[in-house]
Formats: sequence, structure tokens, C-alpha cells
Amino acid sequence: MDRDDKIAPSILSADFARLGDEVARVERAGADLIHFDVMDGHFVPNLSIGIPVLESLRKVTRLPLDAHLMIENPEKYVEAFVKAGANSVSVHAEVCKDIPMMAKRLHDLGARASIGINPETDVQRVLPFAEHLDMILIMSVHPGFGGQEFIPASLQKLREVRRELMRRGLALDVEIDGGIKSDNIADVKSAGANVFVSGSGIFGKPDYNKIIAGMRDLIARAQPANS
Ligand code: DX5
Ligand code: ZN
Repeated sequence: MDRDDKIAPSILSADFARLGDEVARVERAGADLIHFDVMDGHFVPNLSIGIPVLESLRKVTRLPLDAHLMIENPEKYVEAFVKAGANSVSVHAEVCKDIPMMAKRLHDLGARASIGINPETDVQRVLPFAEHLDMILIMSVHPGFGGQEFIPASLQKLREVRRELMRRGLALDVEIDGGIKSDNIADVKSAGANVFVSGSGIFGKPDYNKIIAGMRDLIARAQPANS
């Protein structure tokens, strides 16, 4: 496993009544990031958690908090998320009016800048702006719910994105989010992902140490991206 490979449990599938404890358990089990899904009931047909919860988690974990904003009008909220303690913020290309300006805003606030794309969104919506970004997030399910099936066409998107980044000499993180489990984590690694979000694939299991160690091992043994 390369130093740049990161496992990011999505707390959407955690037990919200014991959230601090759940985060502590995945931290002890070797998670690299905490993926924090924010939903507004408009951009996606569901609601989840927001700024006060992130602020509370900031106090109980040292891991970077990776905020995934599945919300309309993200420009209205990014500052509050960073001030609450988000280390990286993903805004969706489908609702971001000016990607370079958003990236600059996030950098000025001290956060890493990431742009996400939905399964039906072409990679060309984000690739032209790669120089401005720290990460590209590829959704491998339709956002809104945990526990969905991985969409296989996402592998081709990962390859396309990683190939183009390599061609331009850019070492951005490429995050894959949706339906990632032990049985497909090596495939997405080989296709070019290096940040692996997994919600039900981790929180659905009884032993977080075992599942995260197993994922690490599968990533380490995956065939390298061959483009
Ligand atoms: C989906 C969220 C994901 C979700 C992943 O809208 O963005 O982060 O929690 O959950 P799993 O891994 O169960 O697909
Ligand atoms: Zn997410």
C-alpha cells in the first residue's frame, strides 16, 4: 500500500447514537480519514448531518475530517464547515458555479479543495480545473444513501481521470465513494483511486480492526494502475 493510499470510513453508516465512540473505534482500527456526508434534501433526496456535528467530532478525533457536501449553494456553507474543523471539503461540480474560485476560497480558508462528480457527470466537468484542486471525488453510486451497489462504469472513469492526471504530471488524490467493500477495493485501486470511502463496508462489520486491516492488505496487493 502506497503512503498516499487512504481508507476513509463514511460515518453515514455508523451508529449515530454513539458517534464519538464509533469514530474512536475506526481511528484505533487504522482509518486515515473520517468521511463526513452532508445532505440537504435538494441536491440529494435525503437529509443527514451538518456543521454542529462536525464541530463536535473535531474535538474527539485527530484524524482529518473529509466533508462531502451533497448540497446546493455550497458557496454559502463552505466557510462554516472549514471553521468547524473540516480539513478537506468536496463540493459537487453539478452545483459549483466557479470551480477555480471555489478552490481558492477553500485554500484561503486553510482547507484542501476537492470537486465531486455524480455517476452521470462527465469527467470533463472537472478535469480542466485539476491544477486548482487537491482531490477529485468520483461517485460510484447515486449520492443520497449508504449501502448501495457499486456502479461498474466508475472503473472506466477512474482510469480516465488517473491517466489524464498522470499525463499532466499532477499527483492529485482521487477518491472513490459508493459501494466500496473488500470485494472491489483492489479493482478501484488498480483503476487509479487512492482514497477509498467505505460506509456499510466498514460500519456494517463487527470487527473494524479486521475489516480495515484486510482492506489495507487488498490495496497493497492490487495490481498497480497501468495507465
Ligand atoms: C453516498 C455517500 C457515501 C456513502 C457511502 O451518498 O456520499 O459516502 O456513505 O456508503 P457505502 O460505502 O455504504 O456505499
Ligand atoms: Zn460521501
